[in-house]
Amino acid sequence: MQTVRDSEELTRSLAELRQRGTIALVPTMGALHAGHLALVEEAKRRADAVVATIFVNPTQFNDPDDLARYPRTEADDALKLAGAGCDLLWMPSVDAIYPMGFATVVRVSGVSERWEGEARPGHFDGVATVVARLLLAVRPDVALFGEKDFQQLAVIRRMVADLAMGIEIVGVPTMRDADGLALSSRNARLSADERTRAATLPAALEVARDAIRRGVGVGAAIDQAVNMLRNARFSRVDYFVLVDARTLEPVDIPRGETRLIAAAVIGTTRLIDNIPL
Ligand code: PAJ
Repeated sequence: MQTVRDSEELTRSLAELRQRGTIALVPTMGALHAGHLALVEEAKRRADAVVATIFVNPTQFNDPDDLARYPRTEADDALKLAGAGCDLLWMPSVDAIYPMGFATVVRVSGVSERWEGEARPGHFDGVATVVARLLLAVRPDVALFGEKDFQQLAVIRRMVADLAMGIEIVGVPTMRDADGLALSSRNARLSADERTRAATLPAALEVARDAIRRGVGVGAAIDQAVNMLRNARFSRVDYFVLVDARTLEPVDIPRGETRLIAAAVIGTTRLIDNIPL
């Protein structure tokens, strides 16, 4: 695997890779775990060459402390990517992505406004802007994102369609620990006791899903799931809702492609998760 930092090196390496055929892009912020590597594995199945990026994007953090304590494990990440069969790793500097005078914001209205958009103002503007920037720098045939961040995936799909970028966007199912908890760099912040109780989040999603499938009303099914979270001493439930999988608008009746999405706080750690209905 080749590792590049500046844009000229990237251009040269991409030209070489393009001679092999199609290119898949896997954007990340590093601190890689098996969930990220699942994206690389799926990318290998979808294209002739795989490019990954590691860039801790300052514009998507609404809390400066959160940015400051974001884990940085570049050397370890590079080893993991190489092991997973990634061909090229691009680790740009903040100045390379946002040079002096950078003034453009990509805002995807509608789908980015509720849920995570409400909890983290400006977050999806930062995500859409940096993903547009990365997609246009690499110009891959396909780009892969995790269903773990389901609203992010929907925002990116909307942006790529609206701007006719001509890049296929692939969503990859969430990788989970044995007890169901979705892999996330934030899980490292949980105490042993919180980590045990955290598995109630995916369990509650499954209980709500199964109830709705059996014909229980959406509201009643969700009330039961939220009670499970309270009993597991989650301190706050930001949302627990059934939404249309494309628009992220809430739905009362499961029709078409829908998704249960949730965000809840345990201790001081905010967890998100979702499952298809
Ligand atoms: P990051 O949090 O590093 O995640 C990179 C990619 O890995 C995202 O597409 C995310 O959905 C996916 N991912 C994370 N946990 C996963 C899991 N358990 N299973 C499957 N996929 C998982 O998301 C971002 O970075 C940034 O917002 C980014 C898109 C790179 C833009 O800065």
